[in-house]
Amino acid sequence: MRLRLSVIGTGYLGATHAACMSSLGYTVVGIDSDSEKIALLNSGTLPFYEPGLEDLLKEQLATGRLTFSTEFSALDDVDVHFLCVGTPQQKQGLAADLTYVESSIAELSHHLKEGALVVGKSTVPVGTAQKLATTLLANAPQSDLAWNPEFLREGFAIEDTLRPNRLVVGVTNDRAESILREVYKPLLEIGTPWIRADLPTAELVKVAANSFLATKISFINAMAEVCEAAGADVTVLAKAIGYDPRIGNKFLQAGIGFGGGCLPKDIRAFMARADELGASQALEFLREIDSINLRARQRVIDVVRKLIGDDLDKKTISVLGAAFKPESDDVRDSPALDIAAQLHAAGATVKVHDPKAMQNAKKRFPSLIFSSSVEECLTEADCVLHLTEWREYRQLDLKRIKDLVKYPLIVDGRNSLDREAWQEAGWKFHALGRADT
Ligand code: UDX
Repeated sequence: MRLRLSVIGTGYLGATHAACMSSLGYTVVGIDSDSEKIALLNSGTLPFYEPGLEDLLKEQLATGRLTFSTEFSALDDVDVHFLCVGTPQQKQGLAADLTYVESSIAELSHHLKEGALVVGKSTVPVGTAQKLATTLLANAPQSDLAWNPEFLREGFAIEDTLRPNRLVVGVTNDRAESILREVYKPLLEIGTPWIRADLPTAELVKVAANSFLATKISFINAMAEVCEAAGADVTVLAKAIGYDPRIGNKFLQAGIGFGGGCLPKDIRAFMARADELGASQALEFLREIDSINLRARQRVIDVVRKLIGDDLDKKTISVLGAAFKPESDDVRDSPALDIAAQLHAAGATVKVHDPKAMQNAKKRFPSLIFSSSVEECLTEADCVLHLTEWREYRQLDLKRIKDLVKYPLIVDGRNSLDREAWQEAGWKFHALGRADT
C-alpha cells in the first residue's frame, strides 16, 4: 500500500509541499490551526500568490487525494508527517521563535500510529531536532524523527519542490532513510542528488545555504558602494567576476538588498544560535552582511535626498514594487516597502504600486498611498523608485509615462532597467552602484 502523508502547517512551504506530494500520487492531509486558511484551501483558493500553485491545488483537490483540516485527529492513519510550520524571528532578539514547532510536535505526538515517521522541514536552530525527538519519544515511543530541510524559492515553489537541485535528509537510522527514499522515489528517478546526514548537519545545511546566498548579495552590494565612490559600474563588475565558474553569476544582482521571510531572519537566528553554542566569533561576519544589507536601503533614501532635496514634505515619490521580490505577494521584511515607509516617515507623499502585493502591503503600512495602476502611481511624481523588478516595469511605454510625472527622474534600485532606453526617452536615470552618465 502507498504511504499516507500529512503536512502540518499550510503556509507557503506546507501548502506547496502538500499539493506537490499529492501530485506524485500520495494521499495527503494538510493541517493548520487557522480555520480560515483551511477553508480557503479546501475551496481551492490559495491564501497567497505563487505562480501555478492555485491551479495545482484545484487539480489535486479534484482527485480526492488532497484534503485539509484543523483537526489533528485527521492524522491518526498517516505514515509520514511533514512538519512545515513557521519559525519567525522572535519579537525580542535575533533568535527563532520555536513556539509553533514545539506545540505542533507536542500535539502530533498524541496522534502517531506505531512506526510513524515525523519529518521536520521548518528552518530551525541546530540542535532543535534532537530536543524534539525527546518530546516525541516520551509520548510515542514507536515513532521516529528525521530532518529534511527545504530550499524552495518563492516564485519557483513548484519547480523547486518537484525538481529540487538536491534532497538532504537528516536521519538516525536506515529505516527512516528508506521511508524517505520511498516518498521521494519519483524525484530520485529523475536524478536528484541524495544526501544522507545526521540531524544537526541537516539542520545546519539550510542556514549555511541561506547565509552563503545572503553573503553573495551583500558582497555585491558592498562592491556597489565602492563602485559609487570610485565612479565605476557594479553591473559590469558583477558580469565580469561572474564568468569565473568558481564565483558564478547568480545572486550578484546589486541593489536594495535581500528581504523576505527567510534570508534576514535565518542569518540572525544562526548568529543567535552560534552565540549559545560558544561559536559566535565564527559568524561575526554575518553581522556585517546584515548591516551592508540594511545600509543598501538607507543608500536609496540618501540618493533620493541628494537628487530631489531634503524638503521631502513637499515631494511626491512613486514607488514601483512592494513585494520583497517579483512573482510574490510577500512583503515580509521587504526592502521596497521599508524604503517607502521610511520616505513617508520623513514627510514625503509616497505612492506605491505592486502587481500582486498591494493587499499585504496595505495591511502592513496603511498610511501609504496605494495606486491601483502604474499610471496613477506615477502621476505628478518628483521621483520614481524602481524597487521590485516585476517584468511589467521593464515593459513600460517610457515616452508616455514621462508625461505623467512632474520630473522624469528614475532611481533603479534593482539594476534591472534598460538605462539607455530610459535616457533615450528623456529620463534622468540613476542606479545603485553605477556612475551617472
Ligand atoms: C530563499 C532561498 O533562496 C531559498 O533557497 C530558501 O528556501 C528560502 O529563502 P526566497 O526567500 O524565496 O528564497 O528568495 P530569494 O530568491 O533567495 O531572494 C531573497 C532576496 O534577495 C530577495 O529580496 C531578492 O530580491 C534579493 N536578491 C536576490 C538580491 O538582492 N540580489 C540577488 O542577486 C538575488
